[in-house]
Amino acid sequence: MRIYKVGGAVRDRLLGKPVTDIDWVVVGATTEEMLAKGFRPVGADFPVFLHPKSGEEYALARTERKSGRGYGGFTFHASPEVTLEEDLIRRDLTINAMAEDDQQNLTDPYHGQRDLEARLLRHVSPAFSEDPLRVLRVARFAARYAALGFTVAPETLELMRQLSDSGELEALTPERSWKEISRALMEDQPQVFVEVLRACGALKVLMPEVDALFGVPQPPAHHPEIDTGAHTLSVLQQAATHKQPLTVRWACLLHDLGKGLTPEEEWPRHIAHEFKGLKLIKAVNERFKVPRDCQELALLVGEYHTHGHRALELKPSTLLELLQSFDIYRRPQRFEEFIAACEMDARGREGLEERSYPQADYLRGAATAARSVAVQPLLEKGFKGPELGEAIKRERLKALKAYKETAST
Ligand code: CTP
Repeated sequence: MRIYKVGGAVRDRLLGKPVTDIDWVVVGATTEEMLAKGFRPVGADFPVFLHPKSGEEYALARTERKSGRGYGGFTFHASPEVTLEEDLIRRDLTINAMAEDDQQNLTDPYHGQRDLEARLLRHVSPAFSEDPLRVLRVARFAARYAALGFTVAPETLELMRQLSDSGELEALTPERSWKEISRALMEDQPQVFVEVLRACGALKVLMPEVDALFGVPQPPAHHPEIDTGAHTLSVLQQAATHKQPLTVRWACLLHDLGKGLTPEEEWPRHIAHEFKGLKLIKAVNERFKVPRDCQELALLVGEYHTHGHRALELKPSTLLELLQSFDIYRRPQRFEEFIAACEMDARGREGLEERSYPQADYLRGAATAARSVAVQPLLEKGFKGPELGEAIKRERLKALKAYKETAST
């Protein structure tokens, strides 16, 4: 049996990037031999094993053939006769289809190294189209390596377009799609992920609500970039520049969906887009079974981002409603994330990337003022039940009025 390092580990070593997990391929072995060596099988019908000590994945060299729609629709053929080259040809990109033995001798039948140098994300063979998830994977790699100058090869983009048009993307499970989307959003240039999906027509299929923002104008006074899609990409880019967590990046991507619903005759104004967008945000959240914290923040940012921008002008009662909506008393972190998303939204505008955002500290101060109201004295005065709730609210409102006065002097 011969064992090779494959995929991302080889690619990233050649790129001089840190290698986190290593995938191995085993040529010339049977399942029985692997089990006899103490490897643990990963799935019942999948020739992949975990190393007894390192826990790394070892896969028997295999060929694959598509036999139906979606991820389940594959037949595998793993046997000691399958060669390394046969295993590599079923892989997605040439830069992911290189193997290395323990002496770092490279097997590179599909010219991955050449494409690494040319900074090209290029499919290995027509078998690329057998897994529609690869459309998202390529867009994710484009986002990750954009800073190094990588682009998608035109012929690969064409295959991605065909896959997107074919209806195959609809067969992806929400879990697999979300895994790619969430990883892509955490890359340094997440906006490139969205751009590549858009360029191949996949955005229209996966998130038509985001796709619809391109070509929708906004008032130039607030949005020198004008186009809502361009603005959304800039906001996402700002979120990455400022190392925001996934929750904030997801909220940034979806914050303006309502603008895609504005009738053309109302352009470039978008009255009540915050509220109108909520049903779209909900639909996208549900489509990908997005984790609860991301869902919640996206909805709250969608509804309240304009409040964030207008924080300094808000009446104390409106400010209190905002703070209550965020449940800042039990969820302080979520309010911080809201503030961050608003700031990214304000900076994600052409020429305004470095602007200051005094609203952030103002909102933090308001939250501190509202939180400073002590409940104990109200209990001592005999307030109970709903009356206690009302009394707390009154005190918080007083605190916010005082805060607003001091802040404006
Ligand atoms: N692979 C593929 N098609 C997929 C998934 C994986 O061809 N849909 C192949 C690629 O050769 C890839 C390898 O399996 O390099 C390992 O996949 P994975 O661990 O998901 O990705 P990596 O390339 O290691 O990338 P990352 O750094 O993002 O983990």
